Amino acid sequence: MSLAIEAVAFKRPKTGFARTLTEELKGSYDRMTNHPIVQEVEAGKASLKLIRGFTREFLPIVRGTYRRMSMRLQHAAAHDYELQNALLKEVAEEVWHTPMYLKWCKKIGVKVPEDFFEMYLPETYAFVLYIDATSTGRATLEESSGRVFEREAFDGFNNYSQQSSLVQTIAATGLALRGFPFAADKLADGFMKHYGATKDEVEFWSEHGTLDLDHADVGVDIVDRYATTPELQRRARESAIVSTSLWLNQWDAIYRKYGSN
Ligand SMILES: [Fe+2]
Repeated sequence: MSLAIEAVAFKRPKTGFARTLTEELKGSYDRMTNHPIVQEVEAGKASLKLIRGFTREFLPIVRGTYRRMSMRLQHAAAHDYELQNALLKEVAEEVWHTPMYLKWCKKIGVKVPEDFFEMYLPETYAFVLYIDATSTGRATLEESSGRVFEREAFDGFNNYSQQSSLVQTIAATGLALRGFPFAADKLADGFMKHYGATKDEVEFWSEHGTLDLDHADVGVDIVDRYATTPELQRRARESAIVSTSLWLNQWDAIYRKYGSN
């Protein structure tokens, strides 16, 4: 299900940077694809407690994605319609993911909103707040966290361009996403095979699987074409590494709290 927005080809040439970065992140992607949560679901060994805990901690990511994706558009230059088109297309597709997720919650016995009254794991807040900061408030990244990369910007005028914010937010979401589609395929299969879920009930997971790898590839492609200087590449690289690590930390924390019993 999606709104039909035709993709427009990018005019900016490829730099090859994203390939280097995705190779560097490959270990983290594999760790997500083969995470114990995923392996246990795939083998039918995950307890309902683990699956429900995972489902609960995942909601803040799903719930804020349409907003984060909409806010990313602020980083597109006024004349750059190819970029605007690519980002809008993702927003349009994202609209349908919340109802898919609520359908999954219902299937697995997670009640909305009752089961969400308790606080989330601190690791969930850390990941969600990071991806929120990159998409919505670039001042949070630039000033509050004191990350200044360029010598000339340390104590002078603020030269943080729209483009550096763009590559930071796309790297935090698009590049960090790369290991997830492979995990989502396994989760969808495991839920159908061992937990009595129908194709329709696992639609959220299969929609984010490798069939829809386009989602992840758009991010990779944008970072590749827009991170054109060493400074921009440094920003994209750090953002992708931070985001991927925080997401994995969240999955580890979920497993520690809900797994193995
Ligand atoms: Fe989504």
